[in-house]
Amino acid sequence: MTSEAEKSTGPRHIAIIMDGNGRWAQSRGRPRLFGHHAGAKRVREIVEACPDLGVKYLTIFAFSTENWKRTQVEVAGLMGLFRRYIAKEARALKDEGVRVRFIGDRVRLDDKLVGLMDELELLTSDNDKVHLTIALNYGGRDEVSRATKRLAQDVAAGRLDPERIDEETLPKYLDTYVLPDPDLVIRTSGEARISNFLLWQSAYAEYEFIDTLWPDFSPEIFAGLVKNYGRRERRFGGVIA
Ligand code: FPP
Repeated sequence: MTSEAEKSTGPRHIAIIMDGNGRWAQSRGRPRLFGHHAGAKRVREIVEACPDLGVKYLTIFAFSTENWKRTQVEVAGLMGLFRRYIAKEARALKDEGVRVRFIGDRVRLDDKLVGLMDELELLTSDNDKVHLTIALNYGGRDEVSRATKRLAQDVAAGRLDPERIDEETLPKYLDTYVLPDPDLVIRTSGEARISNFLLWQSAYAEYEFIDTLWPDFSPEIFAGLVKNYGRRERRFGGVIA
């Protein structure tokens, strides 16, 4: 492959850990929820930037299985924000060709929110311009546990031969079974951790840990990271060769 051709191969699937909303708000003397609202506004801009950057799949970490440990006020505020966000953005997402999916365990989410999630998935199910996946009550270990339970049920029922289980089998039971693996995982706010996000799926992903707090994450910063993708690996390849 020529270096020009290599340059044009950008990340097709980007996953983002949107961190730093709380600190962003606190540094302005405002409550944490103010930061989450500012963070929610950023989501639209980043989704809109995807087609021009050749990013077909975007997966964002909105609420983790660990986030229930936050104060009741913050959890309730986030759940309210998700409900309002879905209701408010549904039409625009549909019209802009965005296909929305949710991953995570819905059992602990309230019925109203789950109803809105189902409706949005259905409303956008014919879209194919950008595939936006929102991780809500998601944890990588929880996902693998739930997947393993279903896999074991198939074995117990005689639908799956244990001898035939391989690396291709388990992902079919994951919440992400229709998605390609992420090529690039971005985490904002200076923390260099993956916090239980897409554990199985990110085995071969590149990572970018950047200092910017999520509410300050702009399409320009996003475009810079997309451009950067693969450079490190190719440089090492050049040295080794
Ligand atoms: C992490 O910041 C962020 C979250 C736990 C929530 C992410 C939610 C959004 C960006 C808003 C809405 C998203 C959608 C899809 C509507 P933090 O609170 O951990 O920040 P901190 O580390 O500074 O405390």
